[in-house]
Amino acid sequence: MRKKVTVIGAGNVGANCALRIAEQELADVVLVDVVDGIPQGKGLDLLQSGPVQGYDVNVTGVNDYEATAGSDIVVITAGFPRKPGMSRDDLLLANYEVVRSATEQAVRYSPDSILIVVTNPLDAMCQTAFWVSRFSKNRVVGMAGVLDTARFRTFIAQELKVSVENVTAVVMGGHGDTMVPLVRLSNVAGIPLTELLDQGTLDRLVDRTRNGGAEIVKYLKMGSAYYAPSAATVEMVESILKDKKKVLPCAAYLEGEYGIEGLFVGVPVKLGARGVEKIYEINLTTEERTMLHKSAEAVRELVEVIRKKMGAPA
Ligand code: NAI
Ligand code: 2OP
Repeated sequence: MRKKVTVIGAGNVGANCALRIAEQELADVVLVDVVDGIPQGKGLDLLQSGPVQGYDVNVTGVNDYEATAGSDIVVITAGFPRKPGMSRDDLLLANYEVVRSATEQAVRYSPDSILIVVTNPLDAMCQTAFWVSRFSKNRVVGMAGVLDTARFRTFIAQELKVSVENVTAVVMGGHGDTMVPLVRLSNVAGIPLTELLDQGTLDRLVDRTRNGGAEIVKYLKMGSAYYAPSAATVEMVESILKDKKKVLPCAAYLEGEYGIEGLFVGVPVKLGARGVEKIYEINLTTEERTMLHKSAEAVRELVEVIRKKMGAPA
């Protein structure tokens, strides 16, 4: 039986997710968007790439959810992206409404699916999808850490002029300015980063990683990054569909891990057929733990805004 992935939001991230899923022949794809014609047009265009690219999956575009029925995974990219000078948090209430309605409709047709949330502000939107879907916590996961780690790995490889394939990095926390790139746990072919780069350089790379999204927004002016975000999302899709059990940094619902209760925060997880199959609790230094808690508090503030303003479930 062929796998099926619904991608909600046929914009930059969503369309590129659909393209990558098709190119890797991971599943049939249904693209959903509120704008009439956009998902239909992009879906048909993607389908017609198949004969040239050599992929054989079905891609359709729709404005309602009937065709999404029975999806294995639902990727939520619907919403508004950042504009220059805008923080991810500015998007909060507008995107809450989008994610709320998208989740409600998607889970009605795909009650057994796994939700991968991409819409910003990421961690608060994961909480929204979790509340609305009423899915178990392993079936709601957010994409941010794979992207943030990819950025950190890129900057490290550039600095050292080594292959990015040799660079392993760890980034935890919320997907925002308070994210926590963990230098101590990052390495190049097993060589600790701290033995390869001085403190000043490390600080500069950490800072660039934290502001990696804003750096691209500044260039693009009309939107935010989508090539790396879609690649990161599809790595998660693949790990789930193929039950690869990759250990990836993802936003997962914590219930006491790292001393954080009832909140989505980026942590290393095992991602397999059941979604988040395990949360890894790394021993952190006091300083690292403090930074993680600060990041979690920034997420909690947003979640509280949603809870109060929109009367979200407790
Ligand atoms: P985009 O503007 O290109 O696409 C968004 C699409 O969502 C549009 O086509 C729009 O018509 C659609 N949409 C709006 N309301 C909808 C609804 N109720 N139902 C279905 N579709 C709806 O934006 P882009 O660049 O694709 O980004 C999408 C979201 O992903 C943004 O919130 C952005 O901030 C976030 N993002 C998150 C990343 C992460 O690391 N978690 C990385 C990159 C983007
Ligand atoms: C990014 O980090 C906008 O969150 C998005 O590129």
